[in-house]
Amino acid sequence: MYRTHNCGDLRISDVGQQVILSGWVQISRDLGGLTFVDLRDRYGITQLVFNMDENQSLCELARKLGREFVIKASGKVRERSSKNPNRPTGDIEIEVSQLDVLNESKTPPFTIEDDSDGGDELRMQYRYLDLRRTPLQQNILFRSKLAIETRKYLDGQSFVEVETPVLIKSTPEGARDFVVPSRMNPGQFYALPQSPQTFKQILMVGGFDRYFQIVKCFRDEDLRADRQPEFTQIDCEMAFVTRDQILDTFEGLTKHLFKELKSVSLSDFPKMSYDEAMRRYGSDKPDLRFGMEFIDFAESMKGQGFGVFDNAETIVGIVANDIAESYSNKDLKNLTEWMQRPQIGAKGLVYIKYNQDGTIKSTIGKFYDDEFLLKLAEKHGAKKGDIIFMLSGEDEKTRKQLNELRLEMGQRMGLIKEGDFKPLWVIDFPLLEWDEDSERFHAMHHPFTSPKKEEISRMMNGDHATMKSLKADAYDLVINGVEIGGGSIRIHDRELQSKNFDLLGFTKEEAEAQFGFLLGAFEYGAPPHGGIAFGFDRLCAVLNGKNSIRDFIAFPKNNQGRDMMIDAPSKIDNIQMEELFLDSTFKPADS
Ligand code: AMO
Repeated sequence: MYRTHNCGDLRISDVGQQVILSGWVQISRDLGGLTFVDLRDRYGITQLVFNMDENQSLCELARKLGREFVIKASGKVRERSSKNPNRPTGDIEIEVSQLDVLNESKTPPFTIEDDSDGGDELRMQYRYLDLRRTPLQQNILFRSKLAIETRKYLDGQSFVEVETPVLIKSTPEGARDFVVPSRMNPGQFYALPQSPQTFKQILMVGGFDRYFQIVKCFRDEDLRADRQPEFTQIDCEMAFVTRDQILDTFEGLTKHLFKELKSVSLSDFPKMSYDEAMRRYGSDKPDLRFGMEFIDFAESMKGQGFGVFDNAETIVGIVANDIAESYSNKDLKNLTEWMQRPQIGAKGLVYIKYNQDGTIKSTIGKFYDDEFLLKLAEKHGAKKGDIIFMLSGEDEKTRKQLNELRLEMGQRMGLIKEGDFKPLWVIDFPLLEWDEDSERFHAMHHPFTSPKKEEISRMMNGDHATMKSLKADAYDLVINGVEIGGGSIRIHDRELQSKNFDLLGFTKEEAEAQFGFLLGAFEYGAPPHGGIAFGFDRLCAVLNGKNSIRDFIAFPKNNQGRDMMIDAPSKIDNIQMEELFLDSTFKPADS
């Protein structure tokens, strides 16, 4: 028998019991007559004590234990003389009478502690050691519970879990596909699913009514803290539903998960149109944990002789309260430079600083006198101690730049409270996005998304300008400025779907070759349907107040898309290359 209890079990009420524990040596301290060993497993840490006077050979064995040795210890639970209030087992220790070393360990390349001294790459290379650390283990346990609660809720709502294939044909979710060569079909490739989109729609045609799957998706795109090349979705589809029924169902799921996992009761989620989100926050995923909403300054600022403003499509700004004292001219210069970095690309940053002593310092003093600027403050709710920041230029670009400033200032000014959750639905996205470079439309969500009902005749008959303004029945769930999920009501009519492919620049033949199976299915009684997918990794991270999804994935990839532990991707041998009809003489450009 390896254990009677785990390392997190024992309490003061167990004193006197004979027990057996197994686990890893966290640390061993030799204090001359006594040797203490912290024994760790998934459940906690328990202190073992070895007494030189009572059992010399056992104590000597204990002294030789290295970090991460796997041991089994038998002994009696006793009360500790100096208790550790920070540990659930901190009132007791085990007076060891027998010790077995089950396995030795090399000295780990970083410490297995809450704050590890290992860098990211090293920790990923030795992921099995990193996974022993409590914070990471808690994340993975959290993820497991989140999946179980998701299944419980969706099962309670009559959803059916169906697995869809992984070796498929390209799904158009906007990223590049990962492809797999087929040995039995020379020169042909499967694509790994960017999502099970087409399959879940086919399941609706197949009569399943409510489908879900906690499913791996694959996208070959640039990686960021909240993006992995393989990630997991809670993917769902429903038939015979309206948009609001879908939103209610998934608001219910979100509330259930917050309640069960965080004991947080969320109030009803507000709905905000895409247009309103862009106008008030310059983002389709606004962070509602703080204010600093955009103010339109065009009417106030135009016509005063400042050419930059007079000629601008948009003049928009924010009021940052009570920071005039703490922002020196140098800080403001640095902030301006921060806005001018290529990632944001602002041409400049106009500010008006209302000092506590009544003086005003601004970058536009030449064109607007103090009297004007005081009236401006009054009109837009700024007071002494505040700074107004303004940007001007082309509407969409300027709002996006100001969004970056708002988020940065929200962080810097400490406006974001820890443990605060602000979900919302962003609805009525544009159907199509015009790409200036390729001079063609892209689907804002994906090509199966339906325009809003009242837009259908405009879509079937309208001109190019009309197409740019079409609204889709598409929605996103946003929590704390993170896009957690997205979905839409789908087109279930073949003619409308063909029109959409046409607008997206597919010829009839291309549409048929790529999606003929779906278009075909739509001719056999496709029910009205719609759905949504949540990013499961992102949901884990947001629920825990984290930005990075990597620490909620047991075996993530690094920023170059590499698995550092198994060292993938890697070359395959020439025989395998030839079997797959790949050119074994191929050399990447830089090798
Ligand atoms: P979408 O492309 O919006 O919709 O994806 C749904 C959600 O998946 C998450 N997500 C990601 N998470 C981690 N790494 C990535 N690379 C990544 N890409 C996306 C996001 C996103 O909101 N088939 C549609 C859904 C539908 O219409 O029902 C789809 O996949 O949280």
